[in-house]
Amino acid sequence: MERYSWPGWVVKTPLKSPPAIFQRLVLIGFRGSGKTTLGKELARLLGWNYLSTDEWIEARTGCSIADFVKREGWPRFRLIEREVIRETAEARQAVIDCGGGVVEDPSNMETLAKNALVAWVDAPLEDIYQRLRGERNRPLLSAKDLRADVAENYRRREPLYHRHAQVYVNTSENPVEECCRLILEELRRASVQAGQVAGAGAGAGGRSRK
Ligand code: S3P
Repeated sequence: MERYSWPGWVVKTPLKSPPAIFQRLVLIGFRGSGKTTLGKELARLLGWNYLSTDEWIEARTGCSIADFVKREGWPRFRLIEREVIRETAEARQAVIDCGGGVVEDPSNMETLAKNALVAWVDAPLEDIYQRLRGERNRPLLSAKDLRADVAENYRRREPLYHRHAQVYVNTSENPVEECCRLILEELRRASVQAGQVAGAGAGAGGRSRK
């Protein structure tokens, strides 16, 4: 099945009757905010699959995002991104690391939010800029220089990240382990609240957005 041809996909301990909710952890946030580092660590801690929409797009197009965008342009990239996200809909026991622009298409978020806890991975603008400065593999989105590009796109997306996430972590304020702990606590809290996991008293984890 197409959706199981994800790079590195392994079906882990299949559940007899998988609970319908919170079997997916979706990471959103601006490029350079630390989604990939957190996503891999969260998948390791949970024993879930790590799925990167960017990796899947690269596998599908057969080239890097930078080369693809240079050749075909952003609108074509967004179409493929939307297709890939549609294919994540059935993924369970998965941490889904999303490209920074997924929030700009409401249909992406509708798909991603199903059966999922959505976490916003964030960092201050200046830190994002400094992290991206040394990289060559992320093509500019709209402006001509990186600082303006980060500022302009972050400003437009910030309210969208805010709207779609249930938990917030800041990777400049907290080390990786703490960010993961906050997200996992929120996943547990939400699961307990939904009656999915036995046990009570799991404290609120990260800064809950609800
Ligand atoms: C993008 C972010 C990138 C990648 C593409 C577009 C964006 O992913 O999807 O270059 O629109 O912000 P990361 O957020 O993982 O860098």
